[in-house]
Amino acid sequence: MKRIRFLSNRIILCLAVLFIVGCEDKNEKLSWLSSDKDSAYVQIERQLRGFDMAMKEVGYRYNELYFAGIDENWGYAQYHLEKIKTAIENGLERRPKRAASAKGFLEYSIPSLTKTIQENNKEKFIKDFETFRQSCIACHINEKVEFVKVVIPKTRLSPVEKVD
Ligand code: HEC
Repeated sequence: MKRIRFLSNRIILCLAVLFIVGCEDKNEKLSWLSSDKDSAYVQIERQLRGFDMAMKEVGYRYNELYFAGIDENWGYAQYHLEKIKTAIENGLERRPKRAASAKGFLEYSIPSLTKTIQENNKEKFIKDFETFRQSCIACHINEKVEFVKVVIPKTRLSPVEKVD
């Protein structure tokens, strides 16, 4: 009986050692993050970047959105418009000073193009996309990055096309 208890204590001890070693291995994978929690948060914030990453995403999705409309792939168009909204909202969480300039875009431009997409009308989409583009430009002027000139997309960027 005593021997069994001795053995089971041994097993528990071995398992505990294995657990600790396992945990250390996990920490090693996070080698570039500071072990100090506050410094680690600062590092993570820095790596997530500011509004530029949101806009890089918006630029890509704007391109996809345009060709989705050209293809009359309305589900795909709606998908990208929603993701543009999410990207901008997340960008504003990181850079709240941009919120005033984004207000009209979020409250008017996106809902208005959403309505157009729901109408499934290519000619109207092309016309309203131009208004949408102007709202990108307006914010760039407001935010003093007018050198970021948004044009009507010319080239497809992804392998997604509507195939009937
Ligand atoms: C809140 C206002 C605002 C709106 C709305 C906005 N932008 Fe921007 N955009 C900016 C700012 C500010 C920058 C510069 C970011 C920086 O310096 O961190 C920028 C930069 C960009 C860039 C360059 C990103 C890079 O670094 O590669 C692209 C592309 C872009 N915007 C596209 C668009 C498109 C397309 C739309 C409309 C669908 C749009 N933006 C709407 C404010 C806006």
